Amino acid sequence: MSLKKIVVIGSINTDMVVKTLKLPVPGETILGGKFLMTPGGKGANQAVAAARLGGNVSFIGKIGSDIFGKESKKILESENVNTNYLFIDKKNPSGVALITVDKNGENCIVVASGSNACLSVSDIETAKEEILSSDIILVQLEIPIETVEYIVDLCYNNDKTVILNPAPATNLSDELLRKVSIIVPNETEAELLTGVKVSDLSSAETAARYLSNKGISVVVITLGNKGALLCTSSETQYIPSPLVESIDSTGAGDVFCGALAFSISRGIELADSVRFANKAASISVTRMGAQASAPQIKEIELESSILKNELKN
Ligand code: RIB
Repeated sequence: MSLKKIVVIGSINTDMVVKTLKLPVPGETILGGKFLMTPGGKGANQAVAAARLGGNVSFIGKIGSDIFGKESKKILESENVNTNYLFIDKKNPSGVALITVDKNGENCIVVASGSNACLSVSDIETAKEEILSSDIILVQLEIPIETVEYIVDLCYNNDKTVILNPAPATNLSDELLRKVSIIVPNETEAELLTGVKVSDLSSAETAARYLSNKGISVVVITLGNKGALLCTSSETQYIPSPLVESIDSTGAGDVFCGALAFSISRGIELADSVRFANKAASISVTRMGAQASAPQIKEIELESSILKNELKN
């Protein structure tokens, strides 16, 4: 099976995480539990998720000239992610995210973008050959929107598969949407993009059809622990996720996107790729951290054989 090249373009952060019993309300101070400093950023998380599964992955992003940036770069390299186009911003600090995780694994995240907000069109121009020599480009919205628009245009004009994870939720133009090959929003992001409140399968399908009618060939709406809805011009399919006990959902969407890109890069058909991504994400929520929680390929294979055995018995 041929292994295509994946380029992930996006944010890279250091996550400062505190585990609490509940998320605080405005004006409230609460005492938390353990503190964890761990690598994050939606872009870097997706790159590590795809690489840990065995993908051929390059990351394009921007760090500051500080200890956080240096550490984040080292971690990407230790995960076999190519960092030839990880730019360094001399004027701005590396991205940092402040994260609170409650007893149910739900989180609340505030990002100080720093250098991520300076990943420019001219940086993408510098990395153009890297992008054009790859097959799948995975991008999110923690970098400037004009940079995202430029990437999507570049991919569209060169017949590249561009996967957009529209996170954090932002309104996007029809012009941008129609050039995207695969879009992977969660329920909140789908609602913002379509105006349809996604609360069950039928509303998810309405939202997915809306996005499909904008010209996007493949829409995958992730539904948290319920799995995902896949919608193409020819089919709509609900693909449930294995049930697990969640201790930290931070980065689960990133693991899903990285695993989806990896599976597609192996030439695996869409529904099976979504099934695979569901499994990867469900493993990630059973442990703390974003990048840290992404599974190895062996863990997914093991889970599949356990599932098969359960079905037999
Ligand atoms: O999706 C989770 C990620 O969002 C965290 O790692 C944090 O850095 C923010 O980018």
